[in-house]
Amino acid sequence: MSTTTVSTTTSPRKKVTTLTFRQKKERGEPITMLTAYDYPTAMAIDKAGIDSILVGDSLAMVVLGYENTLPVTMDEMLHHARAVARGAKTAMLIGDMPFMSYQVSVEDAVRNAGRFLQQANMDAVKLEGGRERADAVRAIVSAGIPVMGHLGLTPQSVNQLGGFRAQGKTASAAKRLLEDAQILEEAGAFSIVLESVPARLAELISKKISIPTIGIGAGLGCDGQVLVTHDLLGLFDRFTPKFVKKYTNLHEVMNKAFTEYVDDVETKKFPAPEHTVEMTDEEWSAFLKEIK
Ligand code: KIV
Repeated sequence: MSTTTVSTTTSPRKKVTTLTFRQKKERGEPITMLTAYDYPTAMAIDKAGIDSILVGDSLAMVVLGYENTLPVTMDEMLHHARAVARGAKTAMLIGDMPFMSYQVSVEDAVRNAGRFLQQANMDAVKLEGGRERADAVRAIVSAGIPVMGHLGLTPQSVNQLGGFRAQGKTASAAKRLLEDAQILEEAGAFSIVLESVPARLAELISKKISIPTIGIGAGLGCDGQVLVTHDLLGLFDRFTPKFVKKYTNLHEVMNKAFTEYVDDVETKKFPAPEHTVEMTDEEWSAFLKEIK
C-alpha cells in the first residue's frame, strides 16, 4: 500500500490589485465585482473568490433607505468602508466617492480620495463622470491613488438625467460616451464602470480602450460585471432594475424568520431548555438559604 500523502490544501488567494485587473483583461478573463457595506457581507463575498468589492454609494438607497444616492456623506461612506475592510482580505477594495466629495474642487477630490485609503483601508476609489472629471482623476492618480471611472447612468446626476434611465442610446450620445471613456483612460483611470448602456456600445468601448470596463446593465461585451449585492440577494424590495439577476429572495427569507420568532416568543416556544442557562440544585438551595 502506498504511504504517499496527497496535499489537499490550496494556496491562499493573492490580493487582487489593479495589475490583476489589467492581466485579466489581457487574458480575456471576466473580472468579478459586487458591492458590500458591512463586515459579514464583505467576508462572505471575499470567501466566494470575488476580484473586487465596491463600497458603493448605493449604500444611500439599499441600506440607509434614501430615495437616491445624493444624501450619503463622506463620513458615512468611511464608516461602512472600514467595516468592509475588516471583513475582506483578498478582494481589491474600492471606495465610492459620494456626491459633492469631488465635484467642488480638485483639491477636495484628492483629499477625500486620500481619506478612503488612509482612514478606511480602501485600495482605490471610484467617481462618476467623464471629461468634466478628467482633472480630478489626473490629480488623484498623481497622488498615487488608483481611480475607477463610472459612465453611462451615473446616479449622482439623476436630476440632470431626468431619472434612472439608460444612456448612450443615440448616435451622438454614444459618441460622447466613447470619447469620455478615452478621456478617462488618458487621465489615468485603471478601469471604468459602464452602467445601463447598450450592449453593443459597451462592447465597442471595451475593445477601444486598454483598461478594463466593468458592466452593470451593459451586456456581456464588458471586461467584467458588477451588481449591487442587495439586488442580487433580493434584499432591496423597492424596485429591481431590468438588468439585475436575483439569485435569491433574502427579503422573504428574513421576513419568514422574523415572523416565526415573533410567534415563538408569543407562544412561549422560545427560549427552549437548550437556550437556557442552568445552575445546580445544590447552588440554588444554598442561594435560597442566603437570601432568607
Ligand atoms: O454605488 C454603486 O453601487 C455603484 C454600482 C452600481 C456600480 O456605483
